[in-house]
Amino acid sequence: MLETRTHDRPAARPRRLRTTPALRSLVAETRISEHQLIQPLFVQAGLRGTRPIASMPGIDRLGLDALVPAAQEATDAGLAGVILFGLPARKDPPGTGAYEPAGIVQQALRRIKGAVPDLLAIADVCLCEYTDHGHCGIVHDGRVDNDRTLPVLAQTAVSLAQAGADVVAPSAMMDGQVAAIRTGLDEHGFAETPILAYAAKYASSFYGPFRQAADSAPQFGDRRGYQMDPANAREALREIEIDLREGADLVLVKPGLPCLDILRTARDRFDVPIGAYQVSGEYAMIKAASERGWIDEARAAEESLVALRRAGADFVITYFAKEAARILHNPR
Ligand code: PBG
Repeated sequence: MLETRTHDRPAARPRRLRTTPALRSLVAETRISEHQLIQPLFVQAGLRGTRPIASMPGIDRLGLDALVPAAQEATDAGLAGVILFGLPARKDPPGTGAYEPAGIVQQALRRIKGAVPDLLAIADVCLCEYTDHGHCGIVHDGRVDNDRTLPVLAQTAVSLAQAGADVVAPSAMMDGQVAAIRTGLDEHGFAETPILAYAAKYASSFYGPFRQAADSAPQFGDRRGYQMDPANAREALREIEIDLREGADLVLVKPGLPCLDILRTARDRFDVPIGAYQVSGEYAMIKAASERGWIDEARAAEESLVALRRAGADFVITYFAKEAARILHNPR
């Protein structure tokens, strides 16, 4: 008798707290705010106005003239900041465009800092957009040479700091890159410039659309010789530990949704700010499915950002940043 009653009338009713939007909001464990979202911006040398990126609907390459309006929009949306990627006028084997004082991102930073000085401007530090072979480091004897790359990355970081970068974000996955950059910055008067290390960056197929956007696909081989194998989790913790010891102030896990376990473990182990990078392929998948009417774009975007926060990310770099800021203030 009693048994039947238990089945008829459950003792616990978690559904009680799901009955109204007000109750659901009261008990929501995770929130996202535009203050935690960072918008990537692609700046192209020689471009006037904007040019759409086919693989990333809603994202444009920006000419220098279109940059300040985009930065202003990010400010007005209350975003945490922007991260800049450059498409130089020309590419060469040593990736000169990454560190020349008149490089495209250096020019972009000067403009942003002139017009919207309070917007957090993060500069990606890597060579793949600037080398003609498309690899993230200096190629020597047919291989990406770790130690020949380090001084170039340091020089790049210094030149970006001189142009006004608030934070530099090394993404080349060279061993020792954080230490080399820290030393370079300190020696040039930038002891206060923080380093956001792409500490756990996997060799991911989800970067595909970015490589179209930034025209940075490797011309031979792939990046598995320096980016991490998706099969490995412990190794990610080791990478983070090494970067922190070398002086990283903030660390990034990349890609996003494929790495929720890494985010969680890293959050539990390290008491530093941790970011997630929801990468181009994650964005493109949601866009493409929603264009076909297979998925609700706004809800899918919001759900994926909540998942990244729930897993442990303090902040998220996402192509949805500007849109998300709008969605969050117009809840459906
Ligand atoms: C530069 C860099 C890449 C991304 C961020 N920084 C490309 C890559 O590693 O191939 C990918 C970002 C994205 O896919 O959104 N090394």
